[in-house]
Amino acid sequence: MNKLIKIINFKILGDNRGSLISLEKNIDIPFEIKRIYYIFDTKNNVSRGYHAHKKLEQIIICVKGSCKFILDNGFQKEEVTLNTPDIGLHIKNNIWREMHDFSQDCVLIVIASEHYDESDYIRDYDTFKKSITTI
Ligand code: TYD
Repeated sequence: MNKLIKIINFKILGDNRGSLISLEKNIDIPFEIKRIYYIFDTKNNVSRGYHAHKKLEQIIICVKGSCKFILDNGFQKEEVTLNTPDIGLHIKNNIWREMHDFSQDCVLIVIASEHYDESDYIRDYDTFKKSITTI
């Protein structure tokens, strides 16, 4: 059974001025990058996500603050807290995700393999469960 939480460690290019991380398509990010978006100023006690994607995969980086992710492949659930800019959470297609416990200063950068396409989303959990036949 595949592990649900797939973490990619990014190299920190630091010097005495501070830190820098560079991400290049097909090197640090294992797909063609089609879109980048960021989530910030999330209000208190808000949870987000609650969907899976049919095709899209993404890498999520918490560049500031912290946030908890729950991933679910239809058979098992795992959770992970993102709180450092030098790791990326790789979420492949057909994974249900929820985001909870955003810190006030949380900034998430999302690097996606596809353009925005609402028809790629599965936003109903029962539909997601029915769509899963194998891991
Ligand atoms: P949504 O997917 O519901 O956010 P989350 O999964 O983080 O809870 O997106 C919120 C709104 O923004 C929704 O109306 C769709 C829109 N949206 C775009 O127009 N383009 C995008 O690239 C994304 C990610 C969302």
